[in-house]
Amino acid sequence: MTKQPYYITTPIYYPSANLHIGHTYCTVNTDALARYKRLTGHEVYFLTGADEHGQKIERKAEEKGVTPQQYVDDIVKGFHSLWELLDISNDGFVRTTDDYHIACVQKVFKKLYEQGDIYKSSYKGKYCTPCESFWTETQLKESGGVCPDCGRPVEEVEEESYFLRVSKYAPRLIEYINEHPEFIQPASRAKEMLNNFLLPGLEDLCVSRSTFKWGVPVDFDDKHVIYVWFDAVLNYLSKLGYLSENDEKFKKFWPADVHIVGKEIVRFHTIVWPIMLMALGLPLPKQVYGHGWLVLNGKKMGKSTGNVVDPVKLVARYGVDAIRYFLLSEFTFGQDGNFDNETLITRINSDLANDLGNLLSRTVAMIEKYFGGVVPAPDCPVPEEDEPVVSLAKGLAARVEDAMNAIHPNEALAEIFKLIRISNKYIDVTAPWILAKDEAKRERLGTVLYNLAESMRIAGVALQPFLTRTSPKIFEQLGVTDEELKSFDSIAEFGALPAGTKVVKGEALFPRIDLKKELEYLETLLPKAEEKPAEPEEKKDGKPAGDTPEKPGQLPEITYDDFAKLDLRLAKVVACEEVKKSKKLLKCTLDLAGEQRTVLSGIKNWYKPEDLVGKTIVVVANLAPRVMAGIESRGMILCASDEGDVHLSALTTMSEMESGLKVR
Ligand code: MSP
Repeated sequence: MTKQPYYITTPIYYPSANLHIGHTYCTVNTDALARYKRLTGHEVYFLTGADEHGQKIERKAEEKGVTPQQYVDDIVKGFHSLWELLDISNDGFVRTTDDYHIACVQKVFKKLYEQGDIYKSSYKGKYCTPCESFWTETQLKESGGVCPDCGRPVEEVEEESYFLRVSKYAPRLIEYINEHPEFIQPASRAKEMLNNFLLPGLEDLCVSRSTFKWGVPVDFDDKHVIYVWFDAVLNYLSKLGYLSENDEKFKKFWPADVHIVGKEIVRFHTIVWPIMLMALGLPLPKQVYGHGWLVLNGKKMGKSTGNVVDPVKLVARYGVDAIRYFLLSEFTFGQDGNFDNETLITRINSDLANDLGNLLSRTVAMIEKYFGGVVPAPDCPVPEEDEPVVSLAKGLAARVEDAMNAIHPNEALAEIFKLIRISNKYIDVTAPWILAKDEAKRERLGTVLYNLAESMRIAGVALQPFLTRTSPKIFEQLGVTDEELKSFDSIAEFGALPAGTKVVKGEALFPRIDLKKELEYLETLLPKAEEKPAEPEEKKDGKPAGDTPEKPGQLPEITYDDFAKLDLRLAKVVACEEVKKSKKLLKCTLDLAGEQRTVLSGIKNWYKPEDLVGKTIVVVANLAPRVMAGIESRGMILCASDEGDVHLSALTTMSEMESGLKVR
């Protein structure tokens, strides 16, 4: 059977500092997808790499007193060892300072210049160096003058530059996005690109810089270096040999099946990149998937803000598979998720040590004890009592496939763990140790143990893309040596494990760890949570903290800039419940254009949870997170109320409007 090519990429990371757990999250998830595709018979090319040019790197190197090349060489070594440590199975690693890449970027730039899609003019405007992004006045107005992506100040730049004729291709791109709903995923991000960038109109993009040197030179005008994002996205083609003497890989793997990227760089991948490809006359990637961020105490982890978690230390303490498991299972891939120490340890203990580890050790121990270590033959047909386990195991492959094809690795893992949990329950319900006391029930005992061993094998096969070290240990203990029995095809049906297989007890897969001790240890590793002013959960006057209205007219006048600091958004209440510990608080789950967040509001006296579900309300979306009644609230619902709060009403819209829209 010919294997279908499958091309999957991560972003190429800036070597401006060592990578943190947020980057690891993206790469580990991409790795699981790549491994899954290999397991299901595809010829995979999985590419990652380093994005080494730009002003930011040049400045960092200068601060350190080394050349930019020396600076990046050192950090990129760390990328390689991190990916090796985490069993990342990338087939290629691209560096934008590699010769083939530079040659490709120069050829593309020249080609587009010669065909008139790049032209020379002059640029005056604002630039965010950490993000290497240009911003228009309109975009900056909305963000209050700071970089809309990272919130840091932008710099005024003025220079003669080359421009990409983005405006020429925008109508075609809009049409393409509308006709290909699968192109930008999750779908909410497609809406965001259309509404926030494409439909308001695109200005041509400045694609060269002349105020610094660290970039790919424009080969026909050496005063200029090529804009780092123009350079960076071309990595997806250069590594495949595009425009080189050997372009076999390009012919085989382009267009990419999916670019996995973080949500803040979806814009470059779904606007600038497709327009470059259109100008080159190449097909667009089949999909760009924008995942959410791992946040720490409500804030995006960032190399420059220093609130980062070091994956190397976590792996050293808990092992590769524990960290891979946490990153793959705990967070919904398309949404932001909070990195939390206690959840990390609890998931290792409950899912890996208890559920998975115990299932294997109990199964193997009982086969050893009651059948001398030889897997017994099962009853046929399947007895009714065994139907739930058997049918869950049989359907697992299809459910994993659906989740992985939808780029939801966390859902695929959840399906595998459902089988593991139901198998543990099956042990409790069938109680093999009681069956073992009655010789007449020996056949039944054999069937139960066979079903357990086969379920464990099926889980072990499905776990291969996720837990790279654990699946081989499961196979070893189950005595599964035949490669065919490790294949994904072998789990489409229940019963491939041959009776007579010899099991071998091994070490516990994941020893339980002490929660309290580990939390203390992790505290020493991780950056301290930002000092938050101690705020009472409810103020003495009985009004919910932070919601106290002042009389209009008492506050000093503010400027538009002050107002623009507020990120007011429409949000839909998708769920709501009372906070038991509090007299005032309701816990609302809000949807903001696909992003879900928890917001507490002191309006229990005025609303029942069901009054709010389905309503569109107004929320202050950029209010610093605050913990009340032990729950973190990320925003504030706006309400109007009279003197003494006799009447109170949450603000809503006069007509049905989409969630996530700005209130201005
Ligand atoms: N160099 C560009 C990408 C060019 S791709 C042609 C870049 N580099 S980066 O190092 O700043 O970020 C790389 C990726 O890491 C982005 O997709 C970003 O979203 C992701 N992450 C950085 N911090 C993250 C979290 N805290 N959580 C999840 N992903 C995070 O952008």
